[in-house]
This record gives sequence, C-alpha cells and structure tokens, in this order.
Amino acid sequence: MSQLQKSWQARISEATDAIAQEFVESMSYDWRLYKVDVAGSIAHATMLAKVGLITDADRDAIVKGLKEIEAEIDRDGPKWAGFKPELEDIHMCVESALTERIGEPGRKLHTGRSRNDQVATDLVLWICDTTHSLGRNEFDAITRAFVDLADRNRDIVMPSFTHLQRAQPISAGAEALTWASAFINALQRFYAPWMAKSVEWPLGAGAIAGTSLPIDRSESLWLVEQRAGILAHDEIDVSRSSIESTATRDIACDFLFALAMTAQWLSRWAEQWIIYMTTEFGFIRIADRYTTSSSMMPQKRNPDMLELIRGRCGNVYGDLFALMTILKGLPIGYNRDLQEDKRIVFRAYDTVSSCLTMAAAIVNSASFDKERIEPTLDRGFLDATSLAEYLVTKGIPFRTAHHIVGTLVARCEREGMHKLGQLSVDAFNEVIASSLAHAKSDATIRVTDEVYSCLGAHNVVKRYQSAGAAGGKPFEEQLKAWKERLGL
Ligand code: ARG
Repeated sequence: MSQLQKSWQARISEATDAIAQEFVESMSYDWRLYKVDVAGSIAHATMLAKVGLITDADRDAIVKGLKEIEAEIDRDGPKWAGFKPELEDIHMCVESALTERIGEPGRKLHTGRSRNDQVATDLVLWICDTTHSLGRNEFDAITRAFVDLADRNRDIVMPSFTHLQRAQPISAGAEALTWASAFINALQRFYAPWMAKSVEWPLGAGAIAGTSLPIDRSESLWLVEQRAGILAHDEIDVSRSSIESTATRDIACDFLFALAMTAQWLSRWAEQWIIYMTTEFGFIRIADRYTTSSSMMPQKRNPDMLELIRGRCGNVYGDLFALMTILKGLPIGYNRDLQEDKRIVFRAYDTVSSCLTMAAAIVNSASFDKERIEPTLDRGFLDATSLAEYLVTKGIPFRTAHHIVGTLVARCEREGMHKLGQLSVDAFNEVIASSLAHAKSDATIRVTDEVYSCLGAHNVVKRYQSAGAAGGKPFEEQLKAWKERLGL
C-alpha cells in the first residue's frame, strides 16, 4: 500500500503508517455510496454557484466531471481506477479524481461542507433510495409470491394452530395471505421515520458547527429532491442542529430495525414451512431445486434454504445491536466509530435482500398438499368453536355454549368417537339440557339436525363472517383486494 502524504493532511508530520492506512480505510465497502455521493456533491456545487461562492463555470465543470466519474463507476464498479485505499473513503476518492480531471474548480467543491455532513448526507440518501428499491423489488416479489400461492390454493382447507396444537379450520390461502400482509407491514416500517419527520437534511452542517460562509442549505435539499423525486417535500427538512446532524445515526438504526423486523417475519415463515415439510405434517411441497440432500443419508430432502433464511435473522438482529452498541456512550460530534455504520447497514441489507429474493422463489415453487391435509381435517375437533358459535345463534350464552361443547368433546373421546359430527342430535340435546339447567339459563333451547351444518372443517370455513377472517367471504374479499392492489 502506498504511503503518500495525503493532500488534506498538511498538519500531520508524516505519512500514515501502512498498517494504520489499511485499518482506517472504508473505501473497500463505502464505494457503494458513489451514486448518492455524486448526487449530494452536484446539489452542493449547484447551491454554491447560486449563492455566489463559486462561478457558474466552476459549477459546470464540477457537474460534468462528477457525471463522468459516476458513469465510469457505473461501468467499472469497485474496480474503478479512482478507488485508491490511501484516499480512505469514497468521498476523497471522488473529490481527488474530480480535481485530477478538472483542476482548480474541483478544489472548490468542499466549500462549506465536511466529510462529516457529507457522509451523513450520503447515508440518508442511500437509505432513502434503498427503501424505495426494496418496495419496488424485493417486497413486491415476495408479496406477489404469497398472493399467487393464496390464489392457487384458495380451495384447500387446512387446520390452523395455536400453541402448535390444532385450533380452527382455515383456508390455506388465508394462511398464505398472512405472510403477504406481514411483509407489507414490514415494508411500511421502512417508511415510518420519513413519515414521522424524524429524518433531517445534514448537508451544510459542516464538521460540527456549520460555516461562516453564506451557504443555503435548503437549496441543496431542494436540488436533491428534484433528483428522481426521491425525497418528497413533506418528508424531510434542513436539520435544526448542525451538531446533532453530524453525530446522529438514527436513520441507520431505524433502517436496521426495519430490516430486523423483516428478518423476524422471514424466519417465522421459514420455521413454519420447515415444520410443514416434515413427514409428520407434509402440508407443503417446495421444488427440489430449493432443497439439498445428505452426504450420508441417501433418502434426504432437506429444506436448507429455509433453514438459512431462519438462521440469518440472527445476523440481522446482531447488526442492529452492533450499531446500537457503537452509538452507546459516544460523545456528541463526529467520531470515527461512526464509520462502522456502513459496514453494518450494507451487511444487514444484503442479508435481508437476498433472503427476500430466495423466499419469493421458494414460495413461487410451492403448493399446499391437499392429499395430505384433507384426511387430517377430522382430527383435533377443529369445529368445536364453530359449534359453540352455532349454539350462541340459538340463544345460549357463549360461556355456557363453550362448556357444552367442551363436555361434548370429552364425551366423544370417552366413547371412542373422533369428531363431533358422530354424535346424535339426542346426544347434543342431552348435554345442552343439563348444562342449561345447571347454569339456570333458558332450559328449553334444543337443536335439530341443522346442527351438522356448522360441523366439519369445510362447513366451518364457509361460515366465517368477520372482517379479516381466515376463510369464506372475508378471505375471498382479502384475496380480491390483494389482487387489485398488485394488478393481478
Ligand atoms: N469515511 C468516514 C465515515 O464513513 C467519513 C467521515 C470522516 N470524517 C473525519 N473527520 N474523519 O465516517
């Protein structure tokens, strides 16, 4: 590694030590900020010309040079010749390549700003761009995949589980829509800080105290907002405090939290399907191309991709906590500790992005296994709640109805029956009569053979009425709304 004296380090008496040089650099990963770094610099230079701190000719040379540099990095990626580790970071690499290219005007770009507000600006812009791109790409793909799955499996009825014990029957499509809904809510969490107006525009905050030069910070913000409209006017204002601006990494924490919550949902979904793919359940099938076998057990078909999705959530939680820990106790003003933010943010984003993409592919290949699910539906008294609700419609208080059905289930089990539908109308009425008498309620209520219409998993699912319910009309309405929303 070269041990040149850095151009901006006249104060330092010797070149940076080679080990220190490698230790301090961030260019190897913060090069990914190049597009937002160029966008911020173009806005800054344009503002400088507007307030008369540089000439229009300087500005034009700077803008042209920066655009050329951006195009070169678009083409060469991290191999771009201007990426020199001895220049430490993306900001100095771009600035030094600019000056090499256009001379004197390049030396004016840094007027009224510091790398401290520059890097904070880059991070705000990168998170903003990435949020929009997550919404357009990864989240869109995963939501579509689950809505498609719901549509393909809309007629399959399956058990739901609470405590991992059989609960109530549901439409398999409704369970698929659960995940679509969770991921859309997870996406909203990325937008939350912008909506809450807790993100501010750092550019022009300088090193910490602002500047004595007559810059116009709202102008650079306005200019960046024009760039593909990435920041809506009402989402962000010029920061109130230059000191806070250069010290805060709150938006990075918000972003990491949103990623961590997304990872949480990914891992819960992965776990659910890992369970469903066991021989014991056999509820879900995914394509072989998303499974692996065992080096020793020839029969194996393991859900390794799902396991990795489940496991990588741990990395993302760790990333959130890594940044929170770095920030803890950090004195106000910029400290180099803050440079670690990008390593963490990029790593967490890459993990979640690839997990979402992997998950969408798996879901697109999946189906619920009707042949395996159907024969299990009359196990576990899935229709017990439906029966209690039916008794409510006959005028029996819910708590009494709950007691009646509990008694009926116990009776079935005692008498070797495995479903409520095997009981006779007389058996129902016997328990109803004695429970009503015991509860001192209207003891004349009885059922007819109409009672069987609320029994059996398929009947139950058709009877759901409440908004958001996991079957029947509410499910059909949810599915319709999703399809409309996604243009399917
Ligand atoms: N590479 C640095 C970072 O990412 C940029 C800011 C450096 N500022 C400084 N005064 N050393 O945080």
